[in-house]
Amino acid sequence: MRPPLIAGNWKMNKTPSEARALLADLVPRVSGAAGVEVAVAPPFPALEAAAAAVAGSPVRLAAQNLHWEPAGAFTGEVSATMLADLGVAYVIVGHSERRQLFGDTDETVARRAAAALDAEITPIVCVGESLDERESGRALDVVAAQVRGSVGPLGAAGAGRVVLAYEPVWAIGTGRTATSAQAQEVHARIRSVLGELAGPDRAAEVRILYGGSVKPDNVAGLMAEPDVDGALVGGASLDAETFASVVCFRV
Ligand code: 13P
Repeated sequence: MRPPLIAGNWKMNKTPSEARALLADLVPRVSGAAGVEVAVAPPFPALEAAAAAVAGSPVRLAAQNLHWEPAGAFTGEVSATMLADLGVAYVIVGHSERRQLFGDTDETVARRAAAALDAEITPIVCVGESLDERESGRALDVVAAQVRGSVGPLGAAGAGRVVLAYEPVWAIGTGRTATSAQAQEVHARIRSVLGELAGPDRAAEVRILYGGSVKPDNVAGLMAEPDVDGALVGGASLDAETFASVVCFRV
């Protein structure tokens, strides 16, 4: 019902030449991974090289952000139309690094997600609590509010077309992963909020990825949880062998 999706978020890493080399190594390693969808999200300048490198393979292309306007005087921004023309299938929106460092809010995240959907690109909408919010017992409420604010404006049909990514900020790049039980608890809450927004049938189809120090040795435990439908992988996606081990978590 929800085919697992493992996506590599390269963040601000890899030149176009490095992307070509990484994908030449990665594509043959993951092409046989049956029943798992694989995507890579290179930085914008490497997207075209990456598109050529994954052409004809099952590896899908993702971008890391987009602007909500289709074109115009928005220096430095990239539109959904441009990404669609490159063959981009997914776009990450509202990553905690964009929320913390570049001013993204639930409202701007929702606008980005809507623009992606209009261009037939699936937004991967990121949510997640800070360490302080977790330690003060507010994780579930914070994440629920982010889902309502970032996905609610898309309407019921739109909310049913997104991918969600739960990325606790304290687990990103820290080597500290949420336990499978912690991830499942939050994912279940996200699905229940999606049920309010999109209806239970659509909510049951939405994939909810976990992100935050996913590695070859912890991915299987996370994926065993009923509401964990994939992973958004940072550091471990920058090496072909390591990322392929994450993708091939079943073997
Ligand atoms: P790490 O896997 O490096 O912790 O990063 C997670 C992340 O932010 C993916 O979007």
